[in-house]
Amino acid sequence: MAKILVTGGCGYIGSHTIVDLLENGFSVISIDDNSRSTAYAVSGIEQITGKKIKNYKVDLKNFDETLAVFQENEDISGVIHFAAYKAVGESVAEPLRYYENNMIGLINLLKCVQEFDIPYFVFSSSCTVYGNPDSIPVTELSPVKKAESPYGATKQMGEEIVADYTKTDGMRAAILLRYFNPVGAHPSAFIGESPVGKPQNLVPAITQTAVGKLPKMMVFGDDYPTRDGSCIRDYIHVCDIARAHTLALQYLVDNKNKTTCDIFNLGSGNGITVLEAIHTFEEVSGVKLNYEIAPRRPGDVVAIYANNDAAVSELGWEIKYDITEMMRTAWAWELKIKAAEEKVKSN
Ligand code: WQD
Repeated sequence: MAKILVTGGCGYIGSHTIVDLLENGFSVISIDDNSRSTAYAVSGIEQITGKKIKNYKVDLKNFDETLAVFQENEDISGVIHFAAYKAVGESVAEPLRYYENNMIGLINLLKCVQEFDIPYFVFSSSCTVYGNPDSIPVTELSPVKKAESPYGATKQMGEEIVADYTKTDGMRAAILLRYFNPVGAHPSAFIGESPVGKPQNLVPAITQTAVGKLPKMMVFGDDYPTRDGSCIRDYIHVCDIARAHTLALQYLVDNKNKTTCDIFNLGSGNGITVLEAIHTFEEVSGVKLNYEIAPRRPGDVVAIYANNDAAVSELGWEIKYDITEMMRTAWAWELKIKAAEEKVKSN
């Protein structure tokens, strides 16, 4: 059974991907320093799959500690790299922290991949690399434009580093997966998104407002040139994103002769405005959301959504969850967190 190393395995997309890998016959270990996650995800993965996975609490910026994980697991046949900081606004405020964490972590990891001649590498990238696209939907051939934030710049540089490394004989092949807006939670509600501090992203802001954790939320701008004035995004369920990673690994294994670095958009192909997302949530949850219109947020792109034909045709990716399910599972997860917090308080 192929052993896969998932970095950031205690995180939102990493934990959901581990579930999908385990359910599809892979064995998995994780490296996660838990600076932006908790080990709670490991127990959630076990509750869903019945399988234990080992997380090495290691910071990828520490090369020796990262190398030691590979020395202890010489049967790793593939790596999926999620571990990185990803808050657009925070990256504008703290660029050096983002460049240091995201780039040194990736380079140390690739040096270990080289040392142990690991053939397959999947890199967690982002639609952020497209910046403000000239035309939508964006395909994988749409131009990569100047990053709107240091976070986006680290994803663009990360893609270049992986692509350049794939050209050497150090690694057989790689896949870059460009996520659009991952949202929702596993239907079991044993794992989900657990933002540290005030949520930066739309859906956790919606669910935390609805559950009463936040008194209200802001809609950053309703004066954009879109059908209702709010920004358009391509929301995609985290379980669909997870599935695509398993398919990407399988694709690399099935195409052993490939020595390329292929790129795939992971989006639903549907553009939805912020206000439409809020109204969908209200319909699904029955909760009237307390929001107000605020000024535009620096760094936001007006509209972006994916052409996902390549992932569908090449990887055999089938999207299973629609926006209603995204909101329903996100809400179920938020209610689960609330119930757990109330249980702790009552004890
Ligand atoms: C979406 C829309 C906000 C919060 C994300 C990730 C990034 C990358 C791309 C994966 C915007 C609006 C938000 C709020 C709001 N994903 N909004 N009120 O900026 O598209 O980027 O997807 O790598 O990592 O950050 O997502 O959810 O922050 O914003 O009005 O309280 O919702 O202005 O229009 P974004 P987001």
